[in-house]
This record gives sequence, structure tokens and C-alpha cells, in this order.
Amino acid sequence: MTEPQQQRRFAPPQTRTLPSIPPAESGYGALVLERLARQVCRTAGVDWSCIFVRDRQDPRAVIAAAGQGMPWEVLGARFGVDEGMIGEVLSGGGPLAVEDYSELVRPLVWEEARGHSAVAVPITWNRQVGAVLTAADAAPQRTFGPDDLMLLAELAELAAAALEQSEDRLQMNELMQAHVVALAAAMDMRDRRTARHSEDVVRLALCVGELMHLEPASLLELEFAARLHDVGKIRVPDAVLHKPGPLNHTEYDIIRCHSAWGAETLASIPGLQAVAAVVRFHHERWDGTGYPDGLRGARIPLASRIICVCDAYAAMTADRPYRPAMSPEDALNEVRQGSGTQFDPMIVSAVAEVVEGA
Ligand SMILES: [Fe+2]
Ligand SMILES: [Fe+2]
Repeated sequence: MTEPQQQRRFAPPQTRTLPSIPPAESGYGALVLERLARQVCRTAGVDWSCIFVRDRQDPRAVIAAAGQGMPWEVLGARFGVDEGMIGEVLSGGGPLAVEDYSELVRPLVWEEARGHSAVAVPITWNRQVGAVLTAADAAPQRTFGPDDLMLLAELAELAAAALEQSEDRLQMNELMQAHVVALAAAMDMRDRRTARHSEDVVRLALCVGELMHLEPASLLELEFAARLHDVGKIRVPDAVLHKPGPLNHTEYDIIRCHSAWGAETLASIPGLQAVAAVVRFHHERWDGTGYPDGLRGARIPLASRIICVCDAYAAMTADRPYRPAMSPEDALNEVRQGSGTQFDPMIVSAVAEVVEGA
């Protein structure tokens, strides 16, 4: 695959700047916590539940991360980890049953909860109370006994498992991101042109992925793979990588190894195995005549097919030492000519829609 030079004629709208799955305010998946709060109300037969979580970004703060039946101004509010009864439970004070929910949630202000009995149970994982589950009922006569506390403690155990998993996933994403950034920096040092080209591919591929309504996790994988699709070129000798003129057969064979070499490097990094597969197949062709494995059609991973078209378009619309950049219209025509042979026709249509709409 040819590589671009500095000038880039097409810059698709930059919809995202950093690879990340949108976090909840607390740093945990919002959906997980909302489901938990709903589940508490359903299972314990109460109207109100609120989950307070230590803020991942600020260990001194706790946040009312999710709730059911709570006023909007309470949800998302932060206060100190040592404050109020929530602070007591967070510091290991155990479960609490109180006469007044509004006192339990202090320093947050929720007057409507005044005089309603409530319970709070700790949610513990990794040997630390990381969150507090609270519940109360809108009926003022509802009280909570040992059975209620036991039921909520069981729900808290389920919540702990879900939050631990969510935390593991976030940590894995952060680790993967750190590896991707380090490898991209190494590539940039070795070959600035390839690094710049990769950024063009990332921008276009993400627009295409979003147009195709890929899920956040698939978009993240696409972003990592697009950024590192040519990382195997780090292993290509300088004499070949930086050769100013056309390559001979032997040199071209060496260059062709870059997709498999890149995949080998990435496969050894925890969490990046799926990205490795995408990178391995980014030079496969729709008609099965590509490399390294001659995969055909839908057997080529979707992300590889997206990167393949974006790669070609980005290369054509950038200046090369031996030719100027093509116009977006000419590059799109070239891509369209490869539809059904080199490229997946569905991806060609998506790329055309992005480029023509830019
Ligand atoms: Fe490549
Ligand atoms: Fe490339």
C-alpha cells in the first residue's frame, strides 16, 4: 500500500479526539449502575434507591452515581468521602437502618425524603468499600427489618461483582490505550509519514464506523487498529522503508510482511489480540487475492475492510515524494473502481457518503 506525504486534502470531521468509551460521571458504566438501582427497587419493593460510588477520578469524592425515583438534582452530585452517614458506611461502618432518608443522604439536600425510613449497605470489592447502596420507600409507614437488610446485602454482593467487572474492563481499556499510545509514538519516531498517514486513516475510519452505527467497543477496536495498522513497518529496514524511488520485487515482498509483523507485535500485548487480527488482515482484498492469507469477502473482519478502503483513500489524497496528492473526487473514483474486487462495496459506499458529506 502506498503511503501519503504531508499535505492532506481531506480531513473528515473529527468526531472524537481520544480513544475512549464514554464513561459515567463516576467512571463506571452508567448503564450498569442504573440497572442496579432499578433492580433494587423491583426486588426490595421500594420506590427509591440511590447508589453512591467513590469517584474513580477523585478518590476524595463520592458521587450519587445512579438512582431510581430520585430527584435529578441529587443524581450526579458529589461530596467528600468522609461526609455524613454515607461516609461512615464507606469507611467500613457496616450496614445502617435509619429513620430519615434525608439525613442518610446528607450533605445532599432532599427534603421529600424527610421522615422516611431507609437503609444503607456497603458494596465491597477488592477488599474496599467502593460504593453504598441505599433504599427507602415513598410510603412513610414502611420500615426496614433484618430481612430487608439481608436482601439488600445480597443485592450489594451482586452489585460488587458487576462493579468489579466494570472496573477491570476500564483498567484493561486504560492499559490498552497506554500501549497503543506508546506504539504510535514509536512509529512516529521511526517514520513520521506513516504516523501522520495513520491519523488520517483513524479520522476517516471512525466517521465510517459511526455512520455504520458500530458499537462503542467496536469503534474503540477500529480506532486502535486504524492507528496501528502499519505498526509492522517498524521492522522494515530503513533502506526499504525510506527508499525514495519505486521498490523492486524483493523490497516489495519485505514491505508486504508489515501486516503480519504488526499483528505479531500486537498479539503479544494483553487485550490487543482482536486489534492484532484486524491489523493482520488490512491488506486482504474482497476478491480473495490480497495478503497475507488470501481471505475473501465477509471472512475478512469488518474493521479490516473499513481500514483497507480508508487506507487507500488516505494514501491517494496525500502527497508522495514522486507524485502530488489526488483530489478527493479522483481518489473516490479510484476507490469506486476497486469496489467488489479490492474493496467491500458496502464500505466503499460508506466512505463515499462520508467524503461527499464532508
Ligand atoms: Fe498497510
Ligand atoms: Fe497504511
